[in-house]
Amino acid sequence: MKRTEIKQLFSAQAEGWIDTTVNVKGWVRTKRGNKNVAFIALNDGSTINNIQIVVDLATADQDLMRRITTGACISVDGKLVRSQGAGQAVEIQAQDIVLYGEADPDTYPLQKKGHSMEFLREIGHLRPRTNTFGAVCRLRHHMAYAIHTFFHERGFFYFHTPLITASDCEGAGEMFQVTTLDMANPPRKEDGSIDYEQDFFGKQASLTVSGQLEGELGATALGKIYTFGPTFRAENSNTPRHLAEFWMIEPEMAFYDKADLMGLEEEFIKYCVQWALDHCMEDLEFLNKMIDNSLIERLRSVVSTEFVHLPYTEGIAILEEAVKKGHKFEFPVFWGADLASEHERYLVEEHFSKPVIMTDYPKEIKAFYMKQNDDGKTVQGTDVLFPQIGEIIGGSVREESYDKLMARITELNIPMKDMWWYLDTRRYGTCPHAGFGLGFERLMLFVTGMANIRDVIPFPRTPKTAEF
Ligand code: 4AD
Ligand code: MG
Repeated sequence: MKRTEIKQLFSAQAEGWIDTTVNVKGWVRTKRGNKNVAFIALNDGSTINNIQIVVDLATADQDLMRRITTGACISVDGKLVRSQGAGQAVEIQAQDIVLYGEADPDTYPLQKKGHSMEFLREIGHLRPRTNTFGAVCRLRHHMAYAIHTFFHERGFFYFHTPLITASDCEGAGEMFQVTTLDMANPPRKEDGSIDYEQDFFGKQASLTVSGQLEGELGATALGKIYTFGPTFRAENSNTPRHLAEFWMIEPEMAFYDKADLMGLEEEFIKYCVQWALDHCMEDLEFLNKMIDNSLIERLRSVVSTEFVHLPYTEGIAILEEAVKKGHKFEFPVFWGADLASEHERYLVEEHFSKPVIMTDYPKEIKAFYMKQNDDGKTVQGTDVLFPQIGEIIGGSVREESYDKLMARITELNIPMKDMWWYLDTRRYGTCPHAGFGLGFERLMLFVTGMANIRDVIPFPRTPKTAEF
C-alpha cells in the first residue's frame, strides 16, 4: 500500500480520506494504554505532529506489541478516523502493523522527554529524532530555500567559490591548513622551513574563511552574485555564537553604495524571518512553547521595525554615556575598540530596542578591503547587530581604488604575491561595489530562539569536538 506522509494526514486534503485505509511509516515516540487498547504516537519527520495509532489489543499480536517501544520503526495500515480524544483531529485504527526495527529500551537513549541540550549533543547522531531538533532541521531547510529564492527573484546568480584557497580573506590568520605532506617528516628547504612546493597544490593551502574575494570576481563580471557554502575558522572561541565550521551567505553587488547595501541587508533578513512566519508556524509554535516564549513576538517585531543606522562613533558615545551612568561592561569602551557582543547587545536590546546597522568603523579593526572614508580614519563597514545574537551580518562597501587598496595592503604587510588576481579587479575596469556575509547559524539562532549555536546545526564543529 502506498505510504502517506503524516503531514498530509493533518492537511485539508485528509478530509476526503476519512474512513478509508491509509499507510504510514515512522518512529514510535511513545506508547501508552491499558489492557484493552494501546495508543502509539508515531512521527515520520514530515511534521512536528505525531499521528495517534490506536491498537485493539484483543486482536493484536501480543509479542509484536511488546517489541514496539519508543524509538522503534514501524509501518501501519489502518483506517483514518476522526479522533475521539483531545489534541488531534484524526487518528488511525490499526489493522496491520509491520515492525521494521526495534529499539532496545535498555539502551535507546531517547526514552523520556526533557533531555538537556548538553546531553543531546553527546548523542548528536540521534538528536534529529527529537521534537526540538526536528523543528530546527525543518527550519534550516526552509531558511536555505528562502535565501536561494530571495536572491533568484532579484536577479542574483549563485556563484560557487572555492573551499580550498591560498588567501586569507579576513586576514585574521585563523585558517585550517590543507596538506598531504607527511606531518612527522615534512620536506624542508635549505633554510629549514617547510617546502610547500612539494605539497599537493604546490603551495600552502587552507580551508576558506570567506568566499568574498572570489565573490568580488563574480560581481565584477555578472553584476550581482551570492555564495552560500561552508566556511571554516580556526579561532579558539568557545562561545554560544562561534563554530569552527559554519555556513555563510555572501552577496556581492557591482554599483551598490552604502545606502543600497544597508537596504539589501535589511530587506534580506526581513524576508527570511517573514518566510519562517509564513511557512514554519507549527515548528515556531513548538519552539515558542518549549524553548523561548517571546520567539514569535520577536520575529514579528523584527519584520515590522525599521533598522537603526548608527555610525560607530555615535555608538561609542552611547556606550560611554552608559558607562558614565553606571552600566558595567566586562570589556572597556573607547573609540577604536572592537565591540564585544555585550556592547552590541546593549545598543540593540537596551538602548534602541531595534536591530542596528552600525557603519563607518575605525579602519584598524576592519579588514583591508573596506572602502576608506575621506577622514582617513574610518571605513565603510555596515554590520547588522541583532537582539540576542549581536553581529549577524558583516558587510562593507569595497575599496575600488587600486592605489588606496594597495596602500592599505602594504600598510598591513599582506603578502602581495598572493593577491595579484584580486588586485586585477581594480586594475581592469574597476567599479564601485559592495557586499556582506550573513552567518547562517546566527540567523538560525535568531529564528529558532535556541541559545547555543551548537544546537542549530546538525553536526557542530568546535574546538576539541568533531564527533559524528
Ligand atoms: O564578519 P565576518 O568575518 O565577515 C566576512 O567574512 C566578510 N568577508 C563577509 C563579506 O563581506 N562578504 O563574517 C560574516 C558573518 C558574521 O557577521 C557572523 O554572522 C558569521 O559570519 N560568523 C560566524 N558564525 C559562526 N561562527 C563563527 N566562528 C563565525 N564567524 C563569523
Ligand atoms: Mg565581522
